[in-house]
Amino acid sequence: MLSKKVLDAINEQINKELFSAYLYLSMAAWAEAHNLPGFAHWMKAQFKEETAHALKFFDFVADRGGTVILKAIDQPEVEFKSATELFEKTLAHEKYVTSLIHNLYALAVKENDYPTQVLLQWYISEQVEEEKNATYIVDTLKALGEKGQALVMMDHELGKRG
Ligand code: FEO
Repeated sequence: MLSKKVLDAINEQINKELFSAYLYLSMAAWAEAHNLPGFAHWMKAQFKEETAHALKFFDFVADRGGTVILKAIDQPEVEFKSATELFEKTLAHEKYVTSLIHNLYALAVKENDYPTQVLLQWYISEQVEEEKNATYIVDTLKALGEKGQALVMMDHELGKRG
């Protein structure tokens, strides 16, 4: 059985994961509108990953006999200055999510909740991956610049994401 503190915190995290999904879908919409189908494809894949993160918490709560309470999802940003800014904001957002997951882990330790700690270890590793990927794309975009061929090439690369 989950303690109320841990249950409330996981419910909050489900909301954050769904907001993340919404944010990346908003970025995909921006990319579509700016004729960047590869960027849009990458962001849509990210959207799906975030919904999977939310569902993984959802199923865990159900498995532990808790009740998921869904809260309103904030409206994400809709305007971005550039393709590079999309990924700078992605990286900043992922760093924020990492801090939330770490706080959640600290709470699970404090509450002696071992199953939640095991679950969160998956998210901790996932966040390392998320930050690594976003950092690589930000650095590449900065190195190549956003003009002409460089942007077309980057769009092509991002469109390959499985
Ligand atoms: Fe669910 Fe991108 O962290």
